[in-house]
Amino acid sequence: MLTAEEIGHVRSSFDMVFANASEMTSTFYDRVFELAPECRQLFPADMEVLKRDFIATLAVLVGSLDKMTGLLSSTDILGRNHARYGVRPEHYPVVGEALLWSLAKGLGPQWTEEVENAWRKVYGIIAQRMIAISAGVPPQPR
Ligand code: HEM
Repeated sequence: MLTAEEIGHVRSSFDMVFANASEMTSTFYDRVFELAPECRQLFPADMEVLKRDFIATLAVLVGSLDKMTGLLSSTDILGRNHARYGVRPEHYPVVGEALLWSLAKGLGPQWTEEVENAWRKVYGIIAQRMIAISAGVPPQPR
């Protein structure tokens, strides 16, 4: 599904932004709420814990790219949880664009076409699986 080269691009670029994780996650969520303000109400008022959770989970996913079984079991749990949070399939492309945007900001000149294409493919795989598994899972008000 992914080439060794694509996995390499995603891992090395992720390591670079992980060094500035707090800045990257702030840029990411700011961009989500700028592109889709209607999503803000799905999230908690205080985003600090979620920012750390998000980057830690992204690290696990990036670490599992060469182990599809592990990757898919993580995405399946995430997909079911997200359906319960009220996340819908149409939210995924917006969040994907915000993720790419925050990576581009964090990486500057290291954000090359190859790196971008590899991230697009990886996000597509994760989002597609999360969406597929979430079908029929009802939202649960918390
Ligand atoms: C690659 C895709 C995504 C990843 C890795 C991810 C990661 C996470 C993680 C780790 C959490 C913490 C709770 C949990 O583990 O279930 C979370 C919560 C959440 N995510 Fe995502 N997410 C993704 C996509 C999305 C999308 C597309 C949306 C749509 C707006 C979204 C909205 C939310 C919301 C509303 C919460 C709940 C916050 C709360 O109340 O605690 N996420 N996400």
